[in-house]
Amino acid sequence: MNYLMGIDVGTSGTKTVLFDEKGTVIASALREYPLYQPHNGWAEQRPEDWAQAVLDTLKEVMEKSGAEAEEVKSIGLSGQMHGLVMLDQQGQVIRPSIIWCDQRTGEEVEDMLDVMPRERWIQITANPPLTGWTAAKLLWVKKHEPENYKRCRHILLPKDYVRYVLTGVFATEVSDASGTQLLDVPGRRWSDEILDKLEIPRQWLGTVYESCQITGYVLPDIAARVGLTEKTAVAGGAGDNAAAAVGTGVVRDGTAFTTIGTSGVVFAHSGKVVIDPRGRVHTCCCAVPGAWHIMGVTQGAGLSLKWIKDNFCQDYAARGQKEGMDAYERINRDVERVPAGSDRLLYLPYLMGERTPHLDPDCRGVFFGLSAIHTRAHVLRAVMEGVAYSLCDCNDILRDMGIHVDQMMACGGGGKSPVWRQMLADLYQCRVQTANQSEGPALGAAILAGVGCGIYETVEKACDALIFPDTSQEPVEQEAELYKRYHQLYKKLYESLKEDYKELAKL
Ligand code: XUL
Repeated sequence: MNYLMGIDVGTSGTKTVLFDEKGTVIASALREYPLYQPHNGWAEQRPEDWAQAVLDTLKEVMEKSGAEAEEVKSIGLSGQMHGLVMLDQQGQVIRPSIIWCDQRTGEEVEDMLDVMPRERWIQITANPPLTGWTAAKLLWVKKHEPENYKRCRHILLPKDYVRYVLTGVFATEVSDASGTQLLDVPGRRWSDEILDKLEIPRQWLGTVYESCQITGYVLPDIAARVGLTEKTAVAGGAGDNAAAAVGTGVVRDGTAFTTIGTSGVVFAHSGKVVIDPRGRVHTCCCAVPGAWHIMGVTQGAGLSLKWIKDNFCQDYAARGQKEGMDAYERINRDVERVPAGSDRLLYLPYLMGERTPHLDPDCRGVFFGLSAIHTRAHVLRAVMEGVAYSLCDCNDILRDMGIHVDQMMACGGGGKSPVWRQMLADLYQCRVQTANQSEGPALGAAILAGVGCGIYETVEKACDALIFPDTSQEPVEQEAELYKRYHQLYKKLYESLKEDYKELAKL
């Protein structure tokens, strides 16, 4: 039997899944780890935690599955994008990783614009300088922690650090490298011009592969530890969104998906490089060779619901357990009973600043319209609706850019919620579907690994064989009308608060 392993190094945890060639899940394992927020707007994780989670879950999956080591032909890696991992000469981690949702780099983005005009940044990297992306973080370390910067010899993205631990190889692939702001995105290679401007030594960066190319093989000691062999190949893989696209079959023009994980993303495949001159959505290389994608990002999507669950709804886990469901399912049941619009309660999901459509590191979350009539269920529904309004902002920009979508899939933890999917269908005014496969990024990474080792001919052919739409939700006219009005007000609130957010950041 041939098996493929997909590993997704997410923000809340790492999920490792073993699939057979037909995409059937043979075994899976999950390990969670902490997110550190030393200051308002900062977000860090320990790369060592990711590596440990990967090694533990690999071992668990191999034990649970009963698969022979030789049967696992290849591993695909998927991971949260943009996080900065710095290693010294000995390959040791220098400092915690500053991850994708960190917003400390406002000044560094200005510095980047001082060394090169915005238009040139957009021409080369397909995006304007962005606070959450890797280059600005590296400049922050250079300015604020010169002793750490001096020790740096390698910079890696989260899943590429895992690749280094598994294989000893310093490498990345085009989709994740697009989010560093150091890549020539149309050319799919590092940009010497940008490296020169930012004075970043070329040798700090790994080799850039296409997502389905093999980048190395599992080291003997690691193979022995987790139950694999030195012949197990490790493919390029992809950033979590590009991997989720493959895992939901979004690999051709006209297809798109919305994912609600810690972040929320509306992602459309594109056979050509299409750029929003205002930089509100990102253009990156996608995991399909010779293709790109455009995506809008809500910083605090699942993060918002998790935040309110962990801080104000701790009893939901126990309540759910009694009824044989998890905390989120219990929340969904309560939310279903509240009418659309949450009886005039709105939530702005800017707990970690925002990217699409505002590109504003200083904005923060807001509840608007709180009344004594509101219950906890209203507040929970308002949070889900606020995230859906923000995702609708992303979708509207893609539409404005002329990107035509025939098929909108939903995935991620939040995409499993029928209530949340209905909100999306009503707001987007289009059908929202889920795929027969629910492992999104892990499956996508496994498919890329399968193409790399020759089990599948191409990414598209593999997706055609393994993935098809399953559930389907249509917009409900009355609610769609109501949500349109709420969404208008939601949009106005940011405009009204824009200057106040700046004041708040200075306090
Ligand atoms: C995309 C982004 C997030 C992370 C975390 O630009 O920052 O989606 O990849 O999931």
